[in-house]
Parts: sequence; structure tokens; C-alpha cells
Amino acid sequence: MPPAFPILFSNDQILRRTKELARRIADDLRGAPPLLVAVIEGARPFARLVQQALPGHLPVHEVRASSYGSGTVSSGEVKITTGSDLPVAGQHVLLLEDIVDTGRTIAALQRHFLAKGALSCRVASLLSKPSRRVVAVTIDYCGFEIPDEFVLGFGMDLDGRYRELPDVVVYDREIERRHGLSRVTGS
Ligand code: IMP
Repeated sequence: MPPAFPILFSNDQILRRTKELARRIADDLRGAPPLLVAVIEGARPFARLVQQALPGHLPVHEVRASSYGSGTVSSGEVKITTGSDLPVAGQHVLLLEDIVDTGRTIAALQRHFLAKGALSCRVASLLSKPSRRVVAVTIDYCGFEIPDEFVLGFGMDLDGRYRELPDVVVYDREIERRHGLSRVTGS
């Protein structure tokens, strides 16, 4: 059993909201299927849902960009380590992201793909933390705006932990500590 972190969005809420976003995406991009690009690892579950909800079973490509070192504080630097050579020239790219925080990752990816000749580079993100923005980015399809909390689950992790939780939960160090203790003491 994982620690009982407070649930922010249940798996059901995520499914419903993603279907709504996919309907809007399908309407907007009728006749011009986008190149779906998931920002991994975190956006994989969200990207799979969007893919399932869009007509035509479009493939999902992957890009890896790291802006976080370790822990909950951004390093500020964005490196594209996988997928920088995707064939985006002449394509409408749709970036699929788990969460937009400072905006640096999405801004760097958009700059990169537009420089490589993408016709457009829209963004669909399950979550957004507007109060944390450092770089102005437009999220064309946003699932939910959230306050400045560190969240986990549905693909999002803390140093590799809790990614597999089905719901989006709020990280709480104290709950995690008590959970660890109860496992040791069996109480
Ligand atoms: P940004 O470049 O600051 O917008 O950061 C975006 C990336 O930071 C996301 O793709 C996540 O990997 C990570 N991130 C930001 N906030 C959170 C959070 O609350 N939980 C887990 N990962 C986060």
C-alpha cells in the first residue's frame, strides 16, 4: 500500500477531462492530423489516453527533456535528451505534457520543434501551475489548473517514486515519513 496522500484528481476525473480535451483537439485539427509528441516519462499515461480518444489511432512519439535534477526544485536548465531529431518539418506538432510548472520545458521544446520546421507546435497538458510560471507559454488544451503544490501519480514522480498511482495526489513529506515508520514497526 502506498502512503495515503490526499487525492487531488481521481482517475475517473482524469479520464473524463482528457476525453473532453481530445474532443476539442479533434475538432480543431480536423483534416490535419497532428504529430503527437509525449514528454516522457511523466506524460506517458496522459498521452495514451489522448491517443485512445482521438480518431485514427495516431502514433505517439516521445521526447525526453529534463528540467528537474533531483527532488522538488527545478534546476532551470532544459536539455532535450531523446527525440530531438523527430521528423517534424511540415507537421503540426501537438506536445503532450503531464504538468507545466515554470514553463521552461514546454518553451524549450516549442522553440526546438519550430526551429526544425514544424508548422505549429500546440500544447496539451493534464495539469498547469500558473503561479509558478517563469516563461510565458500558451497551453492550448489544459486539463486542470492547480495551486503551487508538488503532485504525484498518473505518470508524475518524485525521484522515480509514485509514478504508477492511478490518481493525482499531493505529495506530503510527513505522510510519507509516517507511512515508512508504520511499515517498519508494523503499526
Ligand atoms: P517546467 O519546465 O518547470 O514547466 O517543468 C515541467 C516538468 O517538471 C514536468 O514535465 C514534470 O516532469 C516536472 N514537474 C513540475 N512540477 C511537478 C510536480 O508537481 N510533480 C511532478 N513533476 C513535476
